[in-house]
Amino acid sequence: MVENLMDKIVSLCKRRGFIFQSSEIYGGLGSVWDYGPFGVELKNNVKREWWRSNVQEREDMVGLDAAILMDPKVWKASGHMESFADILVDCKSCKKRFRADHIKGKCPQCGGKDFTEGRAFNLMLKTFLGPVEDVGSVTYLRPETAQGIFVNFANVVDTSRKKLPFGIAQIGKAFRNEITTGNLTFRTREFEQMEIEYFVAPSQAEDKYKEWIETRFNWYLKLGIKKENLKIRPHTKDELAHYAIACSDIEYNFPFSTGGGSLPDRQAGASGGGWSELEGIANRADFDLLQHAKFSGQKLTHPDLKENDGVPYIIEPSGGVDRATLAFMVDAYHEEKVKEETRVVLRLHKDLAPIQIAVLPLLKNRDELVALAKKISGELRPHFRVAYDDTASIGKLYRRQDEVGTLYCITVDVQSLEDNQVTVRDRDSMKQDRITIDRLKEYLSKKVSN
Ligand code: GAP
Repeated sequence: MVENLMDKIVSLCKRRGFIFQSSEIYGGLGSVWDYGPFGVELKNNVKREWWRSNVQEREDMVGLDAAILMDPKVWKASGHMESFADILVDCKSCKKRFRADHIKGKCPQCGGKDFTEGRAFNLMLKTFLGPVEDVGSVTYLRPETAQGIFVNFANVVDTSRKKLPFGIAQIGKAFRNEITTGNLTFRTREFEQMEIEYFVAPSQAEDKYKEWIETRFNWYLKLGIKKENLKIRPHTKDELAHYAIACSDIEYNFPFSTGGGSLPDRQAGASGGGWSELEGIANRADFDLLQHAKFSGQKLTHPDLKENDGVPYIIEPSGGVDRATLAFMVDAYHEEKVKEETRVVLRLHKDLAPIQIAVLPLLKNRDELVALAKKISGELRPHFRVAYDDTASIGKLYRRQDEVGTLYCITVDVQSLEDNQVTVRDRDSMKQDRITIDRLKEYLSKKVSN
C-alpha cells in the first residue's frame, strides 16, 4: 500500500501533464478539470476500449452521438425538473452552504448549530437558446447522456431494424451543478459518461440485468483493475432512484472517502471508506419509454414485442469516463526501490498506456544517434503510440517514461550505429533485450497488439 496515494496521484497528474485545473491562470474554476497531453491519451484509450468491447465487438449493439442540448420538455418527462435536486441548508453563523444530508449535527466549517430551512437546489445547469434570455428560451446542459438515447429509440429501431434484445451506446459530456465536489476528477461539474441503454422483453430483463453486471465488472478486470479493489453492491429498495426497480453499483476502493454525491449517485450511498461508485447498472423497467411516449405523444414500442403492449424494459449500465480513468491510474500506481532510489511506475494495461513506445538516444549531442533515433520513431509512429525524447540523461528519461506508464523504451546507443541493434527495455520487469532494428516492428507488435 502506497502512503498518501491520492496526494501522489494529484501531484503526478499535474507534474506530468495528465490533469490540470480549468482556467488555472485565473485561479482555477471549481471542480472543472482539463486533461493534458498524457491525460487525453489515457482518457481516449479508456473510451476506445469501452466502445470496442460494447459496440464494435457485439452483434446486439449500435452507437449514437446525441446533442448535449435537448428540448426542455425532455427534462420534465425524465423527472429531472422535479427530482434532480439536493436539499441545501446555510449555517447561520458562518453563512456556508451544505447539503442537508451531510450535516451530522453541527456545521463542519465553524461548529455552529443553527441552520436555515432546507431548500431544494436543482443540479441541472441552465442556459438560454437564441437571442432573448427569457423563460421561453431556457434549456439545460444535459445531466446524463441517457435521455438522448431514449428520445432516439424509435429512430434507431426504424433505421437499424434491430431485434430485441439490443442496446444503444453513447459516450459524451454531462453537466451537474454539484455541491459536494473534490477528490480530483471523481465528482466534477462537467464530466463524461459512457452509457448503454439495453432494450429487452420484460420477461428477459432480470437475466440481462445480471448478465450486464457481470460483463461490466469483467471489463474493469480485463483492463487491469485488481480484483480486490472492485466489488458489486446491490442497492436496497429505499435507495433506488425514482426510475429504477433494481440497481447495482460497481465500486472501486479509492484512496479517499467520497461522502455522498448527486442523486441518484447520492441515494446509492456507497459502502463507506474509499469504496465509491464507478458505474451503476440499473433495471429502469419501462419508465423512460412510457414517460417520453406520454410527454411527446409518440408511440415508443418495438414492433416484434408482444408483452407489455410492445414497450420494452431497459437495462442501463452507466459509467463515468473520468472516474474510470482515475481508477485505472490509481490502481496502476506503484513505487519500488531500485538501487536505493524510488522508482514510480504506472503499470497501466497495454491498451490504456498513453505511450506504448519511447525512443531515446543515449547521447543527445551525437548527431548520428539522434538521426537514427528519429528515423526509428518515425517508422514506428504509424503503428504504435510513440514518443521521442532526448532532453535528459538516459536514467532520467527512463524514470519519466515509467511515471507515465510507457510500455517499452528503445535506446539507441553508439553500438547501434555499427550493429544495427537497439536495446528494448520492458517497463514492468526492466528486462532489456537487444533487437535488430529491422525486426523491431514485428517484435513490438507481438508485445503490444491484441
Ligand atoms: N443515467 C444514469 C446516471 O446518470 P448516475 O449514477 O447519476 O446515473 C452514472 O451516473 C455515472 O456517471 C456514475 O457512476 C459516475 O461514474 C458518473 N458520474 C456521475 N456524476 C458524476 C460527477 N459529478 N463527476 C464525475 N462522474 C460522475
